[in-house]
Amino acid sequence: MGERFATVYDAMMAPLERSRFAKVRGSLVGDLEGHVLEVGSGTGLNFPHYRSADEVTALEPERSMSEKSLTRIRSARVPIRIVTAGAEEMPFQDQAFDAVIGTLVLCTIPEPEQALREVRRVCKPGGIVKFFEHVRMQYSIPAKLQDWLTPFWKRVCDGCHLNRDTLGLIQESGLRIEKVSGFYGDLFQMIEAINIPDDESECDTS
Ligand SMILES: C[S@@+](CC[C@H](N)C(=O)[O-])C[C@H]1O[C@@H](n2cnc3c(N)ncnc32)[C@H](O)[C@@H]1O
Repeated sequence: MGERFATVYDAMMAPLERSRFAKVRGSLVGDLEGHVLEVGSGTGLNFPHYRSADEVTALEPERSMSEKSLTRIRSARVPIRIVTAGAEEMPFQDQAFDAVIGTLVLCTIPEPEQALREVRRVCKPGGIVKFFEHVRMQYSIPAKLQDWLTPFWKRVCDGCHLNRDTLGLIQESGLRIEKVSGFYGDLFQMIEAINIPDDESECDTS
């Protein structure tokens, strides 16, 4: 992420945070327990909403973003540590986390399929995986508009793909989707899943 994007990010998000997103973040992370991994934690907008976790590891490759999260780490209710790395190659052992979450991040990760493989590797079997993401819309006119805007959007928002089929990617990763909730039509989705073991996921798709 560019330094400039990190500087404007919180201000850019503020209207959405006030109207809806802060509540969504609260319901996404508030009840998670144990050791939680947050992928692409950015400026730490989720940090004030953790209530029950024992600890949170926040994976964020861009120091310009994570530096902006330090104040939120200091005032958080739970211990949070930042690890500077990308999601495609996580510096963690297998099954290190009880739960994994990400918000507005699978749109930006250059190799989301590989990142989801890593999510499955580092999350315990049966662990909770939750994402809040904007996705490619179902209806053809808004979806085509998203396709058309994406090249420009990627430049302005440092690599964010407006038109990614994130729900499809999560389904293909082998995670078992438990619940999908739409916001602003289906532009944003909260996707709640379970990291079922590989042999069970093979059964599910056969
Ligand atoms: C749109 S911001 C979202 C930040 C935060 N999750 C939120 O909800 O406000 C996307 C974030 O993904 C991070 N990111 C980009 N590439 C990544 C990668 N390969 N692995 C993990 N995070 C990545 C960016 O640095 C940025 O902080």
